[in-house]
Amino acid sequence: MYPLRRNRRLRNNKVIRSLVRETILTPDDFLVPLFVVEGKGVKEEIVSMPNYYRLSLDILAKEVKELWSLGLRSVLLFVKVPENLKDNKGTEALNEYGLMQRAIKSIKDVCPEMLVMTDVALDPYSIYGHDGIVADGVILNDETSEILAQMSISHASAGADFVAPSDMMDGRIQIIREALEDEELIDTGILSYCAKYASGLYGPFRDALESAPIDKENIPKDKESYQMDPANRLEAIREAHMDVDEGADIIMVKPGLSYLDIVRELKDEVDVPVAVYQVSGEYAMIKAAAEKGWIDHDTIMMEQLISMKRAGADIIASYFAKEVVKLLG
Ligand code: PBG
Repeated sequence: MYPLRRNRRLRNNKVIRSLVRETILTPDDFLVPLFVVEGKGVKEEIVSMPNYYRLSLDILAKEVKELWSLGLRSVLLFVKVPENLKDNKGTEALNEYGLMQRAIKSIKDVCPEMLVMTDVALDPYSIYGHDGIVADGVILNDETSEILAQMSISHASAGADFVAPSDMMDGRIQIIREALEDEELIDTGILSYCAKYASGLYGPFRDALESAPIDKENIPKDKESYQMDPANRLEAIREAHMDVDEGADIIMVKPGLSYLDIVRELKDEVDVPVAVYQVSGEYAMIKAAAEKGWIDHDTIMMEQLISMKRAGADIIASYFAKEVVKLLG
């Protein structure tokens, strides 16, 4: 009791504060998302994501070496697919010489130990900008999952260490796991986007890949029939149990900051590692407010990322990874 207990004794100076600090960020916490495009020497800044770029394969190779030297050892790949290669069922996604497949190989060529994870969903390949096949205004579940399984085999065969299905179809983890086992790709892991909410925070990402759902009759304008309702908590627990039972090695909550209650909930609920994705809109908000001089960029960046780890995240996918690691020194 006061005054015997004065909590401020543990806050009085930097040394005691660091001695008792409960949560510490390290480069090992981070998964670095990367956007890949066709071309040579391409490093295009994404308008709604300042200081973040789409990279062609040659620049990607350099970037990955730099990440490795900074202690960042895991990447999550997304590709921007040329419009003329898009269709309704992601045919290009299975192309052995497609951009994703070449990106995986380019990274493994220059940095074999880099852990490569790949996004598995149809949206970058879809003329409609949906994560699955669209028929009569509906996103088909089982037909989509079959393609996701083929896509996973293709990525794993190209050298991906983990596949990361981000589509939210039901049952796809099991279908992907079984397909990988059938091909004897037994060491390929699955990071499941398990509780992925239908969020307004994905806008800048959809700019980066030009992958937003199109505005056309009989095409759903949003992803609410497959991504989760931001109002729901119990549903996230159900999703987590299903994905773990179906064979997910790691589960992920997305977005980050607005869903830290879910991160904690899932961390307490299941015994696999839990990842969180600090998404493009979260990145853009910090960049924009800092540009206006309304917040301090580095303070807010660190505070939000620490909150994610404190909430229970074992892994943080973040566009800030490189900036953070430089700051950590
Ligand atoms: C697509 C996918 C999205 C993100 C990751 N994978 C967008 C979406 O679901 O529309 C968003 C990531 C971000 O905003 O940073 N399957």
